Parts: sequence; C-alpha cells; structure tokens
Amino acid sequence: MKHKGRFGQFGGFYVPEVLIPALEEIEDAFYRFKDDPKFAAELDNLYKNYAGRPTPLYFAQRFSKHVGFNVYIKREDLLHGGAHKVNNTLGQCLLAKYMNKTKIIAETGAGQHGLATSMTAALLGLEAKIFMGALDVKRQSVNVHKMRLCGAEVCPVSGGTGTLKDAINDALRYWTANITDTFYVFGSVCGPHPFPTIVKHFQTPIGIEARSQSINTIGRLPDIITACVGGGSNSIGLFSGFMDDKDVRIVGVEPAGRGLDTTEHAATLAVGKIGVFHGAKSYLLQDDVGQVHETESISAGLDYPAVGPEHCQLKDSGRAEYTAVNDEQVLDAFGIFTKLEGILPALESSHAIAWLITQKGVLPSETNVILNLSGRGDKDVDIVEQNRQM
Ligand SMILES: Cc1ncc(COP(=O)(O)O)c(C=O)c1O
Repeated sequence: MKHKGRFGQFGGFYVPEVLIPALEEIEDAFYRFKDDPKFAAELDNLYKNYAGRPTPLYFAQRFSKHVGFNVYIKREDLLHGGAHKVNNTLGQCLLAKYMNKTKIIAETGAGQHGLATSMTAALLGLEAKIFMGALDVKRQSVNVHKMRLCGAEVCPVSGGTGTLKDAINDALRYWTANITDTFYVFGSVCGPHPFPTIVKHFQTPIGIEARSQSINTIGRLPDIITACVGGGSNSIGLFSGFMDDKDVRIVGVEPAGRGLDTTEHAATLAVGKIGVFHGAKSYLLQDDVGQVHETESISAGLDYPAVGPEHCQLKDSGRAEYTAVNDEQVLDAFGIFTKLEGILPALESSHAIAWLITQKGVLPSETNVILNLSGRGDKDVDIVEQNRQM
C-alpha cells in the first residue's frame, strides 16, 4: 500500500498508525466491490432512480450571447440534494453497507456533502454523524436543518476558524477513537489514500456523460471544460472524462477570496507551497514555518487550505491549468447568470461562471465550453442578499 495513492509526488497516507487498518479495510472493500455486478447494479439503480442521473447537458443561450462564445452547462445542480455530492455519498455509503458498517461520519463545509450523506444514510438505514465548522453552521443553516430532518446528528466544531478544515480535524479525531464500527464518508478527492481514488471513481459519471453528450449535442468534443475547485471532486469528475483528449483545454477555478493581491488565504494551487495536511501531500496554504493559513472565501464549500493530490499533479504536468476569481467577481457572476438563465448557481459553481465572464472578448465566438454546474444556489440566497446590502 505504501506506493499506492500517489499522484506523482503528491497524495499518500500520512496518518496516525491507528487509522491504517481502517484505511486498508476501505481500500480492500473498494477494489472488491466496485466492479462486483450486484454492487454496480445497485449503485447504477440509485444513480438513475434516486439521484436523477444522467444529468442534462444544457446550452445556456442567453449567457452564451453575453460572453460571446458557446457555453454548455452540465446540470449537476439538478441532482437530488442539489449538488454533485450525492454521486459520492451513494457510492461510499453503499460500500459501508457492503462492509457491514452501521455508523457513518462525514465532514461538511457548505453543508452539501453533509446533506447528501444524511439523505443517503436515511435511505440505507445507517446512523450518521456530521461534523461542521461553527461558522459554516451559521452561514449554511438551511442545510443544517435538512440534515437533522433526515435523522443525522450535526456536531458543530468551534475550534480554529470554524470551517471545513476544522470539521475534518474533528471527524478524523472521532474516527481514530471509533474505527471498528464507523465508516468515514470523505467528501472530496483529498485526504489520505484511498479517498482521492474512491471519491474520483464515484464522480466519474459526470465526465463520462458529458463526453458522450458533447458528441451528441455539439457534434464534437468541447474546446474547453471548466469547473470550480475546492477539494476538487466535481472538477476531477468532469476532467476525468477528457483526460486523454489532448485538444480539450482543462481549466479549474479556485477562490481568491478578497483578491490574490490582497490575501494569501485562498487559491491553493496559485499561491500554495507543497506540504502535508489531512493525511496527504499537496499544495497547501501555509506560512514560512509550515503553519497552515486560515482561508477566506465567500463560498463555504471552497474554503479549504489544501487541494486534491491529482490536481497538484495535473497542475505540475501542465495538463490542466488553474486560475482564481475573487468574491466580488463571484457575486457578479451569480447575479448575471441567474438573470440570464433563470438558474441560481451555487456560489462554488459561480467561480467557474465568473472565470468565463473574464473570457468575454478573449475566446473566439466559435469556442464551445462545458461548465460543470456543481450545485444549486438556494443555500446561498441569504449570503448573496447580505452582500448586496453592504
Ligand atoms: C455545490 C458545490 N460545489 C463545489 C464544492 C467543492 O467541492 P469539490 O471541489 O470537492 O467539488 C462544494 C463543496 O461543498 C459544493 O457544495
């Protein structure tokens, strides 16, 4: 297992010894069941009839006119729960069930992974405990109510900045003390091996569908694919479908908070330095002595100082490019897209929309872009309203 889970120099599993058997148990079960016909058929049925896959690829006509090139939207916002997170929770919770685990834990930032885990736990009869930073409990309160209605216990985490990294800290701490009967449903393609590999696997339907829909709808592959990058799961799901299509340009969009020139507290791939965090080696926002920086982004789901190891490798190899937009651009993008398309995008997804707006007058009019709309923005309406009044 020592060489597994590496993406070039990134990834790995830098964890306390007590967690290694639990990670190995999950890895073994993943490889045993992922291609098992019964498991695959059960998951496929849940994807189709519970979550709502395949999601449409929709031509955003008025937004395309606004930016001056063709924008196609992969509608992950239409999935049950309102985000791509359910792809992963269905896969991991089913795996937990096949492993005869009865209890699951998860961390959450925007509340979308916590909600997806809570829904899936209710569906499969599992007991769920969700760790969530105290700041995020406040700014994503609607999702907290929904999680509790599904029967999950929400554990607010007041340490640190009360955001995603603190929720993961507490979840890992709890897991260390409860590994025998508890499965940790990790929410993104980061953390220790095997999570980056497992979460990617369960998010690959996004890219597989988008590639064949592109051929059917546009008549060819897109010129550019783009998605927001927090830990990196919705983006890796989309990117994975096009990795070998060398002519397809891949663009990941990170949060720059109040702006790259004013802060070092966001845009991990742009300004981070290599370090180890939450069990994996990746780019990381840290100071000169390795102390992890506090992050600040208007979107709770992107408020994280590290990033998935595969993204680090894609950046270094040059296969994907990464850029960042600030909170103000994100709020503008949210407003413009909603008014032109009648779709409220999640603030996370609005980062990718904001980058497209910066490409107005830059990309030729015949350019075809696929944008992954990772989630819907209902959860963000209050934040947008508060910022409008400021
Ligand atoms: C709607 C939405 N998009 C994107 C993200 C970021 O996560 P990831 O980078 O793993 O897709 C989140 C995280 O909570 C989210 O809720």
